[in-house]
Amino acid sequence: VTMDRLPRHVAIIMDGNGRWAGQRHLPRVEGHRAGIDAVRDVVETSARLGLEVLTLYAFSVENWKRPAAEVSTLMMLLKRYLRSELSTLLKNNIRFKVIGRTDQLWPDVLSELTDAERKTAGNTGMLFNIALNYGGRAEIVEAAKRLLAAQIRPEELDEQRFAGFLYTAGQPDPDLLIRTSGEMRISNFLLWQIAY
Ligand code: FPP
Repeated sequence: VTMDRLPRHVAIIMDGNGRWAGQRHLPRVEGHRAGIDAVRDVVETSARLGLEVLTLYAFSVENWKRPAAEVSTLMMLLKRYLRSELSTLLKNNIRFKVIGRTDQLWPDVLSELTDAERKTAGNTGMLFNIALNYGGRAEIVEAAKRLLAAQIRPEELDEQRFAGFLYTAGQPDPDLLIRTSGEMRISNFLLWQIAY
């Protein structure tokens, strides 16, 4: 690692879990479990290297179309991760933040998430964004709604001002986007933020 050329913000589309499991003749859920082990490593290593922001795409607005059993397994794994990793986040001075349409998440998952956000809010190290029920177009539409509600006049609006209404307000844009399966698709992730 070239320490003087570290990206400030790394964004990761976590996919290929199902294919990873399939290649090993395991059920898909085993792929998600292994994915969580990788998340643990990535979060701790990123914080140790000194990244400013790490964003993981864990659940898209499209993922609700998956079989109900898979959706509930993912939610269960997420809850379990939050419970078991909160102490690691605190120990590593990591601030945790959820981005996405959180109002549509299951109430028990949401309460774990807000608890983790609250308990890590005072941390000053790496910001760990987790994108849940997230869609890039939906984020832009929501930002537009918020700026209308704030009664911003057209002449007051520019790109920087608009970015302040996105979930990632105040954060540097990602300078590295990784898609773990190796495919080269954006899949509605951070559309505004990855422009460059
Ligand atoms: C993509 O693999 C993975 C997901 C849709 C879910 C990943 C989310 C979790 C494991 C929940 C917990 C998350 C965190 C960050 C703690 P895929 O099923 O699309 O695999 P495929 O591309 O091979 O079909």
